[in-house]
Amino acid sequence: MENTPKKEVVFSAIQPSGTITLGNYLGAVRNWVSLQDEYNCIYALADLHTITVRQNPAQFRKNIIDAYASIIACGVDVEKSVFFIQSHVHTHAELAWILNCYTQFGELSRMTQFKDKSAKHADNINAGLFTYPVLMAGDILLYQADKVPVGADQKQHIEITCDIAKRFNGIYGDVFKIPEGFIPKNGARVMSLQNPLNKMSKSDENVNGCVHLLDPPEVIMKKFKRAVTDSEACVRYAEGKDGVNNLMTIYSAVTGKTFEQIENEFAGKGYGDFKTAVGEAVVEELRPIRERYEQLVKDKAYLEECYHKADEIALKISSRTLGKVMKKVGYVR
Ligand code: TYM
Repeated sequence: MENTPKKEVVFSAIQPSGTITLGNYLGAVRNWVSLQDEYNCIYALADLHTITVRQNPAQFRKNIIDAYASIIACGVDVEKSVFFIQSHVHTHAELAWILNCYTQFGELSRMTQFKDKSAKHADNINAGLFTYPVLMAGDILLYQADKVPVGADQKQHIEITCDIAKRFNGIYGDVFKIPEGFIPKNGARVMSLQNPLNKMSKSDENVNGCVHLLDPPEVIMKKFKRAVTDSEACVRYAEGKDGVNNLMTIYSAVTGKTFEQIENEFAGKGYGDFKTAVGEAVVEELRPIRERYEQLVKDKAYLEECYHKADEIALKISSRTLGKVMKKVGYVR
């Protein structure tokens, strides 16, 4: 990573909780890639967050390596950016504990993702699920990040990060930089192809609802052809046309076309043509990523070298912030 002090810092992370989705890519990872030249970018695989939902150990191990390779395949350049594994850098768990003591039960209770996830995993509403946003706040604050590229579903978590940071700074002086979310105009909330009222998610039970980065072209085409639309048979962006709106959003995010251009392109055509065009555009966008991934994942030694190098840099940067925090709080150093 270039160490130019003038460049602002970008931090973001993704959970290795399953195969990365088109939603993750359009909402976040694509921006991670595009910000690399202008900013000092630090990215992480948030594997500590992932065990808030029970994981099968062998599958989890595989998901971590696959996700690491996938993100590099998307274009995160390990020569330009720091891309590390959260559980390898002990400062994250330590700052999370400290920040837990500066976060109120009431504010965590208001997190919509906590409410959603506890409804979905009613048999395992663990304390980690509840304090998850505090770990995330620590991730961001450790690197004094200016910008955090995420999808719309993380907006509330960025807000609580700012609240915690301001509270801490209010007591101890300017310890943390107050970060800002960086949410794309288009693609910030990609919805399930089968239930366009729900966001596209790695854990979608309906396999046809979610497009994975590594899906082969024929699978991607099949999923788009089966996408839920409506009975109007007119490609236009309008309230109540959630399925079509979602497909238009995806098409626009991938091709750069405006909604108006898309409406003109498909005027007088049926949904069949439209779905095929969206599927083909996505296939072409993802093809180089899948090809690159297949090369990378075979080279475990290279991946290991990449994350060990990045883990060390992340530890060095984050230790500075953690040291300052501990001193301010009053720990004997
Ligand atoms: P995660 O792993 O759920 O998602 C990774 C990124 O993808 C975005 N995203 C979406 N964007 C558009 N449409 C969708 N359907 C969609 N689904 C997911 C997410 O907004 C996210 O940007 N808590 C975070 C990981 C994390 C983190 C952090 C992020 C841990 N520490 C610090 C930023 C900064 C999460 O679970 O993301």
